[in-house]
Amino acid sequence: MIRFEEVKKSFKETVVLENLNFQVKKGEFVVLIGESGCGKTTTMKMINKLINPTEGKIYIDGKDISKINPIDLRRNIGYVIQRVGLFPHMTVGENIELVPLLKHWSIDERNKRAKELLDLVGLPSSEYYERYPHELSGGQQQRIGIARALAVNPDIILMDEPFSALDPITREQLQDEMSRLQEELGKTIVLVSHDMDEAIKLADKIAVMRDGKIIQYDSPEEILMNPVNEFVENFVGKDRLWRQPELLLAKDIMIKDYPKVFLSRTPAQAIERMKDKKSEFLIVINKQNNYEGYVTSKELKDKHAKIKMQDIKNKSIEPVHEDLNMVEVIDIIKNKHVKFLPVVDSENVVKGVITKSSLLNIISDLIVTD
Ligand SMILES: Nc1ncnc2c1ncn2[C@@H]1O[C@H](COP(=O)(O)OP(=O)(O)OP(=O)(O)O)[C@@H](O)[C@H]1O
Ligand SMILES: [Mg+2]
Repeated sequence: MIRFEEVKKSFKETVVLENLNFQVKKGEFVVLIGESGCGKTTTMKMINKLINPTEGKIYIDGKDISKINPIDLRRNIGYVIQRVGLFPHMTVGENIELVPLLKHWSIDERNKRAKELLDLVGLPSSEYYERYPHELSGGQQQRIGIARALAVNPDIILMDEPFSALDPITREQLQDEMSRLQEELGKTIVLVSHDMDEAIKLADKIAVMRDGKIIQYDSPEEILMNPVNEFVENFVGKDRLWRQPELLLAKDIMIKDYPKVFLSRTPAQAIERMKDKKSEFLIVINKQNNYEGYVTSKELKDKHAKIKMQDIKNKSIEPVHEDLNMVEVIDIIKNKHVKFLPVVDSENVVKGVITKSSLLNIISDLIVTD
């Protein structure tokens, strides 16, 4: 829906953006993030032609926007800036109805739409429609800004640090509201932020920018789990994963080289193996590496030499799927009082095992920040 192709921007001699190539799909929520001066606002303003690229092309719905009249273009793009910029001498209602008015909507249509939007952003129209901006708190003004951006039902909404001046509680409320609006109305949203927590919370995709370039453009999960370089890693903050343990999956925390034994082995062989691996258990697998159970010294004790793992394996521990998240894994280990958990894929092939000590290692890695 929005596509940047080899976009470069210079102000006089100074290059502030280059090699910008990225795409925002319809209905996607994209957050541009990076340090002050890295080019976020400039990137965003090129989408509604408040700034034009020096080189390269930007397409919206396949159309080269350099060929579209800026006023026409902006009518279909809502824009919310940090300081909402409401007109002080107009009421809340008049502020919201401004663009519909410019689009020659009838008075009834305009009123109806403004009232609908006020209710949508959580400000009852009966109470707020007639008020003036100075009679509203900062957070309420920001909501009006959002309502106004939505007034003519644009497909695209651009938001430049819309929540940064708000207190944490109001910020959270408005963030939740934006998430809801995006889900309900299917808007394509590009939002600029300084705040990684905000980006992770809202984004389908995050573009991490530095010195006029996009360093990584990925889902929040990917950015957290697989930062492309140290800059992104530091920007994300090492401790963040720990604050979002639901993003860590069983497959990320399991030991891949797990102690195992085939169905056809004898107790003596198994005991040897446990000594070798310094493990208190072995996962029993078949030739296809499917989970068949496990053995510990308890199952192996005093067993006839000819008996096979097949006959003595214990199945009381259920394996977990490799995509289960860490919060659920910890829950199972705690509630079932197990010392280890086999991890399998959808075909019941054993991929690894999570033990209490492997979990502890992960946790201590995560909370040690340098
Ligand atoms: N009109 C302009 N003329 C000259 N330089 C400009 C102009 N607008 C922006 N710049 C420069 O371009 C660079 C990127 O600015 P931009 O506003 O896009 O940064 P930003 O990432 O939004 O920063 P912040 O987080 O502080 O808002 C900065 O170095 C800025 O000084
Ligand atoms: Mg900016």
